[in-house]
Amino acid sequence: MPDVELFIQEKLNLLHRAHYAFWVYWWPLWRRVYSGPHILSQWRRLSLVKQGQCVLDYGCGTGDFTIPAARMVGEQGQVYALDCGPRQLGIVDRESKKAGLSNIETILSNGKTTLPDESVDVVWMCDVLHEIRERRAVLEDLHRVLRPNGILAIHDGMRDRVLSYTRGLFALSGKDGKLYKFVKEAVSPA
Ligand SMILES: C[S@@+](CC[C@H](N)C(=O)[O-])C[C@H]1O[C@@H](n2cnc3c(N)ncnc32)[C@H](O)[C@@H]1O
Repeated sequence: MPDVELFIQEKLNLLHRAHYAFWVYWWPLWRRVYSGPHILSQWRRLSLVKQGQCVLDYGCGTGDFTIPAARMVGEQGQVYALDCGPRQLGIVDRESKKAGLSNIETILSNGKTTLPDESVDVVWMCDVLHEIRERRAVLEDLHRVLRPNGILAIHDGMRDRVLSYTRGLFALSGKDGKLYKFVKEAVSPA
């Protein structure tokens, strides 16, 4: 049985990247009009983001969750918007200025975050985990940057496979549809 996931990653990666050149135009519409409001109601049901918190939106795309998160955390809070696409981050910068938000910082990366240890309250990953090659290394870095009582929230079509990637690093503490909410597990040094 072929590994479909590996095939997509290795053979269709170029196509994937070309697709993102156009993606930035239609995706915000899909998020703002259709799927975004549904996911934000899942945030509210799971009490995901609170005032004053530090949130990392990993694979933020055009910022369709970065902007709501920045409003929720307020002026005392901070949102880091990380993506490997400079065009996406340009849109996040433009939209945050338009919305008058000064608590968003963009990070260009396709892997680790470079944020300090235990500095983030909530890591949000929406429809991005399946696209990352070095999933375990990225999840280990997210474990490092999360505060001891921090939350990792993953929304992904991989569904139950999310549990195998996070095993040993994060423990499931809530679930709403495709949204998995995790707390940090204590990891003993190797
Ligand atoms: C399907 S979009 C989701 C965007 C946003 N999270 C949302 O739900 O609206 C996936 C995003 O993840 C980014 N991405 C893919 N692989 C990445 C990686 N290894 N590191 C950082 N960002 C990545 C892509 O550039 C794209 O913007």
